[in-house]
Amino acid sequence: MSNTVGTVLLTREQIEERAREIGEEIARDYEGEEVYLIGTLRGAVVWMADMMKNIKNDMEIDFVMASSYGSSTTSSGVVKIKKDLEGDIYGKNVIIVEDILDSGVTLSYLKQYLSVRKPASISIVTLLDKPSRRKADIRADYAGFEVEDAFVVGYGLDYAEKYRNLPYIGILKPEIYA
Ligand code: IMP
Ligand code: MG
Repeated sequence: MSNTVGTVLLTREQIEERAREIGEEIARDYEGEEVYLIGTLRGAVVWMADMMKNIKNDMEIDFVMASSYGSSTTSSGVVKIKKDLEGDIYGKNVIIVEDILDSGVTLSYLKQYLSVRKPASISIVTLLDKPSRRKADIRADYAGFEVEDAFVVGYGLDYAEKYRNLPYIGILKPEIYA
């Protein structure tokens, strides 16, 4: 598995350090308030688990699965909700936790979809941000790292459902998906 990953872009230590910084920043921004973290399955779980431990507020967590991807490396542009929330977000401070903000099509759809339920607020925290590829008008309130336009895997991110368990973010060798 590891020999199909070309370059290590971000180490586990770098990611854990950002998880601490961003978690503490969120704790400050929402001081005295309860937050409702919504992780996007399946990519965000590893990052979410790291980050949430640094948010000292009262918290509930929930998950959605929204998908605009098949097993290719570019967005189909069509978003489907494959798994909805279990809980009610009316009046809550929602924080969507995403693995990577790429075209932004998925997140802008999801934000719109959730805002109909009238939460008190919605913000977005993403581990990775690829601003060069943005198509939708959306930005993250908290972003771990900006990355160049390359297909990355590991730390929750997959290629065709593999590589999510890599404890770092790496660039997949292009010949793997060419
Ligand atoms: P968007 O709608 O184009 O922003 O797509 C966001 C989703 O695409 C992410 O949640 C990922 O699941 C997937 N994605 C986008 N870029 C990458 C990448 O470089 N590696 C792995 N998954 C990616
Ligand atoms: Mg994915």
